[in-house]
This record gives sequence, structure tokens and C-alpha cells, in this order.
Amino acid sequence: MSGTDPIFELKHVAKRFGKSRVLANINLQILAGERVALVGPSGAGKSTLLGLLNGTQLPSQGEVWVFGRNLARLSPSQLRQVQRRIGTIYQQLHLVDNLRVIHNLNAGHLGRWSLFKAVVSLFFPLEVETAAQALFKVGIPEKLYERTDQLSGGQKQRVALARVLVQNPIVILADEPISSLDLGRSREIMDLLRDMSEQTGQTLIISLHAIELALSHCQRIIGLRQGRILFDVPAPEVLPEMVEALYRIENARTEPIQKI
Ligand SMILES: Nc1ncnc2c1ncn2[C@@H]1O[C@H](COP(=O)(O)OP(=O)(O)OP(=O)(O)O)[C@@H](O)[C@H]1O
Ligand SMILES: [Mg+2]
Repeated sequence: MSGTDPIFELKHVAKRFGKSRVLANINLQILAGERVALVGPSGAGKSTLLGLLNGTQLPSQGEVWVFGRNLARLSPSQLRQVQRRIGTIYQQLHLVDNLRVIHNLNAGHLGRWSLFKAVVSLFFPLEVETAAQALFKVGIPEKLYERTDQLSGGQKQRVALARVLVQNPIVILADEPISSLDLGRSREIMDLLRDMSEQTGQTLIISLHAIELALSHCQRIIGLRQGRILFDVPAPEVLPEMVEALYRIENARTEPIQKI
């Protein structure tokens, strides 16, 4: 694959859970180094779309290509290789609460470490300096040896971000990384994500509800509504009426829940 090939390409993708159609006819290309915000109301399909991009979900129809490979054609070990290069910050964070922060951060190495090294590190933490630097970057260096369940929701979100910094992937998928943070801290985390992608060329795809931060920190905005792309435009081209249409609450009788 050449430098100008898309990192992600979705071709006529649909996703169903049982009889519910959650995504329909998604066509999308995302290039290296782009900073993309996924916006849209709750239930629009943002997390599902991120799950398709990192291969934790498979499409019901269509094809998902990542780094030039069709995910449906990969063996489990090939898929893991692709996934190692994609860092995901999940909406539910997926931290192990009863471990110290350092161990959750070192989980960022798991795709690279042998099982032996991973087990040893649970008793004698390895690569402490890398973990400490990542935690410093997200603004809570003093929490390295704290138990994760002692942290606030916002601090846990920072740990999840720091774990991805430790993984140092080519692409970062962040599913509402600022949902538990106040506006000041949200801005700080968005600054950090933007600066990182600018400095390292990392591709960034962020789902979020804070439309102002999406517009100020991302170059491209994809509006998802009821499983469809309503718009996909450069941030400066997003108009107030487009945002209004994206979040408009329709009368249930005129817009029934999609079932097929
Ligand atoms: N594993 C699943 N099984 C069944 N339905 C699912 C599953 N995952 C998601 N859905 C449904 O798919 C739809 C889209 O969900 P998704 O989590 O992708 O939305 P979202 O845009 O991320 O919403 P939010 O902003 O609340 O996080 C919802 O109606 C949800 O109930
Ligand atoms: Mg979601």
C-alpha cells in the first residue's frame, strides 16, 4: 500500500444486530494523518462504526478495509497484527479496576510482550518510565501506583488515554474520550489528542457529543444519524442548520425506529 492509500475504507457497509439495522450503506475513506470527529445523537451508531474500524465487529454487508487489507479475509493472527496498530479508547474504558494504574498502562504493551513478560510485569512492573511519561502527558503523574478504582471517572478516562499512548499505535480511535470531564479538562484532553496527531502523524477518529470541540479540534466532521451518514465535510463547512438536522428530535410517528 502506498502513502496515499486510505488507512480505512468502508464499502457499502451495513450492520445489523438481529433485526435492527444499526448502520446502512456506509461508504467512507479515511487517510493517514486525518483528524476526524464522529458526531450524532445517542444510538446513531458511532460506537458500532468504531467497532467495525478496529475489527471487533464484522459488517453484516459490505467490506471494511484497513491498511489495505479486507478484514473479513484475515486469519485471527493477521487480524491481531492489524489491531496492534490501532489504539482504541473505549466508551466503557475497559480498565481493570482492582489493579494499580501502572498495570493498566502496561496493558498497552500486551500486543508486543510475550505472556511471560506480561506475567512478570504484574509482580515487578516493567517499562515504568514509559508508563510514567504517558501519565505525565495526561496530567496525573502522581497516580502511577494508585489503585484504579480509587480514581475519579475523569482520571480513569485519562488512564485509558495514557494506555493508548503506551501502545503508540498508527491510528487512535477514541469513543467519547471526554464524556466524564468538565469543559476545561475536556479541552485539555482534546488539545493533547490534537497535538499528538500533529506531532506524530497519527490518524485520529473521535466520537463525541461536544460539537464545538469537534469543530475546533478536528479537520473533518462526519455526522451520523440513525445509522446513516448525514454529512461528511471539512469542519469549516459545518453549518448550524446541519447540526440542527443531525440532532433534531422527530415525532415518533413520522420517524419510526428502523427495523428491517
Ligand atoms: N451488541 C449489540 N446488540 C444489539 N444492539 C446493539 C449492540 N450494540 C449496539 N446496539 C444498538 O445499535 C444502535 C447504535 O448503538 P451505538 O452504541 O453504536 O450508538 P452510539 O452512536 O455510539 O450512541 P451513544 O452516543 O449513546 O454512545 C443502538 O440502538 C444500540 O442499541
Ligand atoms: Mg457510543
